[in-house]
Amino acid sequence: MANSKYEYVKSFEVEDEVMVPNIVVVRIDGRDFGRFSEAHEFDKPYDAKALHLMNACSMTVLEEFPDIAFAYGFSDEFSFMFKKETKFYQRRASKIYSLIVSFFTSVFVTKWKAFFPQLELRIPPSFQSRVICCASMEVLQAYLTWRQNECHIKNLYATCFWELVKCGKHEIEAKLILKGTQKQEKNELLFQQFGINYKKDVQEIFRQGSCALRKQVEDIVKYQEDGTPVRRRKKKVIILHSENITARSFWNDQRSLSKDVGLFGECIENIKPEYIKSFQFESKLMPSTWIVIRIDGCHFHRFCDAHGFDKPNDVQALNLMNSCAVSVVEEFKDIVFAYGVSDEYSFVLKKDSLLYERHASEIVSAIVSLFSSIYMTKWKEFFPKKDLKYPPYFDGRCICYPSSMILQDYLAWRQVDCHINNQYNTCFWMLVKSGKSKTESQNCLKGTQTREKNEMLSKFGIDYHNLPAIFRHGSSVFWDKEETKSECGTEGAVEKYRKKVVVEHCNIIDTSFWKAHPTILEDEDNQCCQALGTSTCS
Ligand code: GTP
Ligand code: MG
Repeated sequence: MANSKYEYVKSFEVEDEVMVPNIVVVRIDGRDFGRFSEAHEFDKPYDAKALHLMNACSMTVLEEFPDIAFAYGFSDEFSFMFKKETKFYQRRASKIYSLIVSFFTSVFVTKWKAFFPQLELRIPPSFQSRVICCASMEVLQAYLTWRQNECHIKNLYATCFWELVKCGKHEIEAKLILKGTQKQEKNELLFQQFGINYKKDVQEIFRQGSCALRKQVEDIVKYQEDGTPVRRRKKKVIILHSENITARSFWNDQRSLSKDVGLFGECIENIKPEYIKSFQFESKLMPSTWIVIRIDGCHFHRFCDAHGFDKPNDVQALNLMNSCAVSVVEEFKDIVFAYGVSDEYSFVLKKDSLLYERHASEIVSAIVSLFSSIYMTKWKEFFPKKDLKYPPYFDGRCICYPSSMILQDYLAWRQVDCHINNQYNTCFWMLVKSGKSKTESQNCLKGTQTREKNEMLSKFGIDYHNLPAIFRHGSSVFWDKEETKSECGTEGAVEKYRKKVVVEHCNIIDTSFWKAHPTILEDEDNQCCQALGTSTCS
């Protein structure tokens, strides 16, 4: 790890450990899924194939992360429950919710073709996520009851609504007919007008949602020479549907759940309103501070090896990262600057941003999920001859910086890190290529300073300063003015500009970059006061 005078910026990072005995629940939810389902012409009210795809993704999440004991989902959402004693990533909330949503998104893109073979992905899917802390089994039971009630209510309503629309009613009319109706009335409407017996005719996957959990099953592991199958009991992730997932008859009977999470008590009839309030609560980031979202590839060492990336730098892999960052900057207009190196990217949101009401988990998860989605969808464009062997994923965190000077120090810290790592890695791989073992190369480099490393490189005929700027400086992404054309007006020739996202590989430690681009970190104090509803700092 690099050491520099900028390291102090790390002290702005906050701890967000979920303390024991809270049970960690991560809920993911489709971002702008109305638009996504319109774009892909999903069946209404719900598309069975899309739900099966969601279920398949949740199964893969359980297979990848053994610390997750159970998942429940419907529509475009899924909640993942961790084992009560989990030490997953030291129980750090942002790490956990971000990497789960990133992995889920990548898997969703990977599996899309299997569920929609005739349909290209027209827009990249993305999800948001958050952690819900359940302080006891009673709270967890209330949470799951709440989610399954939502599933019942939403599905019954949507079934009625779309039946009415299908029989010729206008959407506004259908809404009016259903306004204020109770469950019983909706059931009757379905039966009398459309001959639908809700419980019998509507599939479980729609009415009850889906559970993913591990079960002991007998699997055929091989066949003997005479053809007799050899069976072994092993744990397998399966999907189940149940009318009442928090009934003791369902939950307590699943051995893996009662052992890894705990037992449920009597059925919950009325969920305490303060519980629902706590499930919905989200803290806001401090106003009038620069928000930095830093995402980082998880286990990218392995991912780069598995995909044969050039060492120490693979220019196509970096170009792919940059292209994803450009799309993210274009999508979230509050991002004023992004800086990337290796498998990480930092996105800076303007000081007065009100994106998602400054809810940290919504901002972090939306960015990390969209980035992952685009990484997957653009892979073939950058690596036409390489197949993705498994879906990559990223984690994300959020840090607030109170002044543009400290923010510049943060960015300088990342660029110094880029420089130190790049110089070390370039030397290391030259030594390895020259025939030294990895341990010998490490020993050679131990305690060496910049000058010594540069000398070492020059012995290999490399002038460090002539290496491509993308390797030495990393990549900066920002909106820049692009000259379009000169137009003759009444006051003579007028230059026309439009804004465009650019990728540059420049020195951002030096303040001259910021002086040359004064609008990037413009401190819009007046706007910030407006956002706060005050007028004192005009
Ligand atoms: P975690 O982030 O802790 O999950 O581990 P990680 O394996 O992702 O390591 P870390 O983020 O600390 O470092 C990034 C790693 O990605 C580097 O150590 C490299 O192994 C790998 N990497 C990043 N860019 C490149 C590249 O262009 N070429 C190659 N070969 N490897 C790269
Ligand atoms: Mg990493």
